[in-house]
Formats: sequence, structure tokens, C-alpha cells
Amino acid sequence: MATTTAEREQWGSRIGFVLAAAGSAIGLGNIWRFPYVTAENGGGAFVVVYLACILLICLPYLFAELALGRNSQKNPVGAITAIKKGTPWTLVGGLCVLTGVFILSYYGVVAGWALGYIFKAFVAPGVESSTYFASFVADPWTVIPLAALFMLITISVVYGGVEQGIERWAKVLMPILLVLMLVVIFRSVTLPGSGAGLEFYLNPDFSKIDGEVLLAALGQAFFSLSLGMGAMITYGSYLPKRENLLVSGGYVALFDTTIALMAGLMIFPALFAMGRDPGAGGPALIFEVLPEVFATMPLGSFISAVFFVLLSIAALTSMVSLLEVVVSYFVDETTWSRAKSVWLVGGFTFLMGLPSALAQGGSTYLTEGVSLFGVTGFFSIMDYIWGNVSLALGALLISIFAGWVWGTGNAMEELQQGSGDFFTGTTARIWSIFLKYICPLVIAIIFVGKVMREI
Ligand code: PHE
Repeated sequence: MATTTAEREQWGSRIGFVLAAAGSAIGLGNIWRFPYVTAENGGGAFVVVYLACILLICLPYLFAELALGRNSQKNPVGAITAIKKGTPWTLVGGLCVLTGVFILSYYGVVAGWALGYIFKAFVAPGVESSTYFASFVADPWTVIPLAALFMLITISVVYGGVEQGIERWAKVLMPILLVLMLVVIFRSVTLPGSGAGLEFYLNPDFSKIDGEVLLAALGQAFFSLSLGMGAMITYGSYLPKRENLLVSGGYVALFDTTIALMAGLMIFPALFAMGRDPGAGGPALIFEVLPEVFATMPLGSFISAVFFVLLSIAALTSMVSLLEVVVSYFVDETTWSRAKSVWLVGGFTFLMGLPSALAQGGSTYLTEGVSLFGVTGFFSIMDYIWGNVSLALGALLISIFAGWVWGTGNAMEELQQGSGDFFTGTTARIWSIFLKYICPLVIAIIFVGKVMREI
């Protein structure tokens, strides 16, 4: 964000915003979470539902978050109170900030794993990757310092502003990530026995779809696009009026979805070539599969290190956006300075992440002794509540707020600024039907259906 003469900071340029928003969207959600959630929910059919969620729900909803942010020039709480002061709607903004804190707490732990894996190929070459992963994540003296280090890096970026450092890096590094992923995909699909993986991933078996799969796909779509907790409201608040929100938002969704689909192509062929059970991987999936793929490649250790460096950077740009939501709330709504907010929020979330860090073997109780809603282990419970349910709930409430309280007329007017003739007449009408009816209804049906079955 460049400081301009206006009171609020703004992005340096269009490409600056697209990169920052894509940086928020592209992260562990695409490369770590998407493959294992797909595996747990039956493969191809899940992918189809996921794509439908992106196109029919997330995309129309994304525009609403961006419009809310740019219109109010505020954090999620401020954006809501700017439109409707002193009503319970403010609590929805509060839910966004809270969700940011909780996701950040366990996301930072996985980001720490990625950081540690940069050295894996050199420290433990040839060790069976599942054995290595299990002992790696179970060691508190490894995972906690790594999570702390990752949080410190995130704090320093959010403290120093985004444009100078991270945006400039992202411009160079993200294309490299893309190329490297293509190389890994090539290796993965040429392994003997990989065909069954492609079949599992790309050939949908619709009989596998149930309420569970629908909520998982919806939650994953929101998670991946950083929606439902105000990250795009916050990023939109730094946008100038001349920006075309529709085009920029469209690019972000396109990049994000492409990377997620590519991550699946890296993992599934290799997973089946190794003869593993797809549903059994869980959060360990990519950390067990990828090292084995790298091991079959020339210069494998080097490629592995580069890959995990890039994954760490992708995770960093997402962590930055999560922290930014919470920090912008404290900066806008309280007397706290940016420095104070960044340090306090960062430190606090790190501490909150400790139980998640210990929940992969570090503490037996946190690993297998706790369960809730049929989910076992503290880490997975956190991811389920905050990464799935809370994002879907947040998006449900924000779409109702934007569509009915703020009104599609106002939202549309905001979107029209900067988008030329692109967003008038039929296009705009169709969009408002999606925001007002389809988004909230579909989310509510999936949600209520799921909750009903729980109780
Ligand atoms: N979208 C990020 C990812 O895919 C995670 C994230 C979720 C970031 C919600 C911000 C808000 O890794």
C-alpha cells in the first residue's frame, strides 16, 4: 500500500491490488488444504461442486465484499457501522475479526511446517516421508519455534506496509511457483500407476455427494478465496474509485482456482502411484506425498527446497491478509497505533495457536482425545469451526447485509464506478439476483441441512 495524500492508504496500482488480493487468496488453502479436502470428500464429484460454488456463489459474493470495503473505506466492523449504525449487524463485523484471529492461529502452524520442510530434503533424505512427517509435527521444539518465526515475519510485513516488500516479491515469485508446479505435475502424471489418480480426481462419481460434501466444498471455496471474514472488505477499502472491481475480482478468482486445480494434479496421480489410500492423508497429505515425488526427480532436493520456499511465501501473503483484517479493525476503531496493534494481535494469535501446534502428536489429548461434531483433534476442530462453518456463516450474513440492508442498488452503484459500461442492464440485474437470493439461500440450505443432521 502506498501512502497517498488522502487519509487512507491506497494500493500503488491496479496490478498491485490484484497481486495483493491474489496473494491473500492463493496460499495453503490451495496447495495444502484443497487436495486433502478433495481426497476426504470423494475426489471428482467434490471438484465439480467446488467449481460450482466458486462460480455461482463466491464470485457474486466477492464483488459484494469489495464494494462494501471500497464504499466505506473501512475494516469489516467499520464498513457495517458506516452503513447501519448501532444495530446487531455490527456483530457480524465482530465475527469477521474473530474468525481472522482463529484462522490465523492454526494457519500459522501449518505455515511453520512449510518453512521447516525447506530443509527436509537435506536433513532427512531418503527417510520414508510419512514416518518423517509424523515425528516432525509431533516435536514441539520444532513446530513451535517455526510457527513463532513465521508469525514474526508476518508481523514485520504487516508492520512495514505491503507494497514495498511483499508485493514486489510476489510479482516475481508467483510465476516461478506456477512453473514449478507444472514441472511437478509432469513428474506426477508420468509415474507408473498414476492413471488411477487422474480418474479419482477428474472423473466425478456423483453418488458421493451428500450434505457433508456440500458444506466441505462451500467452506473450501470461501477459505480459498479468502471470503466470509472480511479480508476482501479490508483489501477493497484501500482501492481507488477508478478501479474496475469486477475485472480485478474476476482475475483473483481465476488465478486462485487455477492454482488449486493444479495442486490436485500434482498430488493425486502421485498418491495413487504410491498405492496410498486417498482419504487417509488428512492435513499430512502434501507433506507426505510431495517429498516422495521430489525424490524421484533429478535435482530433487533442490527442487523440494525451492518448492517449500515458494509455498512459504504463498502462505505469508495469506497470513498478511488475515492479520491485516484484525489490525485494521484495531487501528480504525480504537486508539491503538498500527505498531501496537500488529504486535499485540500477532503475539496473541501465536499463543492461541499453541494448542493447534501440539495437536499433531505433541499432546496425545489434543491429538486424539478431543472431538466435536464428529471431528477429532484440536487442530481439525479449529479448522472445521473457523475455516468452514464460520466462513459460510459470515458470508451468509454479509450477503444478506449487502443485498437487503445496504441494498443491491447501492452495491451496484459502487461496482459501476470504474467498470465503464460493463456492469449495466442485464448483467447488473443478474448479479443482484445472485446476491439477494441465490447466495444467501444456497448457503442457508447447505448450512441448515448440515446443522440439522448434527443435532
Ligand atoms: N485464502 C487463503 C488460502 O487459500 C486463506 C485465507 C482465508 C486468507 C481467509 C484470508 C482469509 O490460503
